[in-house]
Amino acid sequence: MNRIVLLHAFPVNRHLWDEQVEYLTKAGRRVLAPDLAGFGDSQPPQDSTMTALAEQVLMQVGRPSVFAGLSMGGYILMEILRQHPEMVTGAIFMDTKAVADTDEARAQRLQVADAVLATGRTDELAEAMLPRLLGESTRSNNPGVVEQVRAWIEAAPPEAVASAQRAMADRPDSVSTLRRYEGPALVVWGSEDTISPSADQQVMLDAMPQAVGREIPDAGHLTAIEQPSAVNDVLLEVLTDWQ
Ligand code: MLT
Repeated sequence: MNRIVLLHAFPVNRHLWDEQVEYLTKAGRRVLAPDLAGFGDSQPPQDSTMTALAEQVLMQVGRPSVFAGLSMGGYILMEILRQHPEMVTGAIFMDTKAVADTDEARAQRLQVADAVLATGRTDELAEAMLPRLLGESTRSNNPGVVEQVRAWIEAAPPEAVASAQRAMADRPDSVSTLRRYEGPALVVWGSEDTISPSADQQVMLDAMPQAVGREIPDAGHLTAIEQPSAVNDVLLEVLTDWQ
């Protein structure tokens, strides 16, 4: 049976997936949800590249698996597909995008990297990111989730934030990587996601004609914590189909 590896978003940690880990484990699935380099309990990366982030994941994974990557986790999954496609038996792209950054987005990332290192704090980053990370429905109806995500961002080490921003700024366009991938694929997005809006999802679906697309209602960018039950159901459904 397929094991699933869950790769979290920036700048949170493996606990983004707590509900999925519990649900899928109870359903008899093998699940691994590592902290990405520098976040949570993990070691900092060797250098600020997607390759280093992907290598650190693969060292823990060890054998071919289904991967689900949410946002930055999706960029890492694309890097794994580029470097080690033999490790991927199924690919789930959540609230992410295959296109590289615009020059403006890249410059903004480098600015954030410099700012968190200069101040040694991530609370201002949390304040700036929360309205974009979480959808309108969550921000209006679920203050517990808002405060949880804020706490995760405030706990993120500035060095990890800076390193991940530099790695993401430097990441290549992955559309051709997805075109080459012929394995099973699922693309999932929150209906209120403004960071990776539906046009970005369509680019991925067009690159992988075999992919199934699923929109999660009333969720922004962090679908896994905003609408955990809907995400749990989608993940278990495809794992059952792909086994
Ligand atoms: C994430 O959620 O991982 C980030 O929003 C990704 C990004 O900044 O592109």
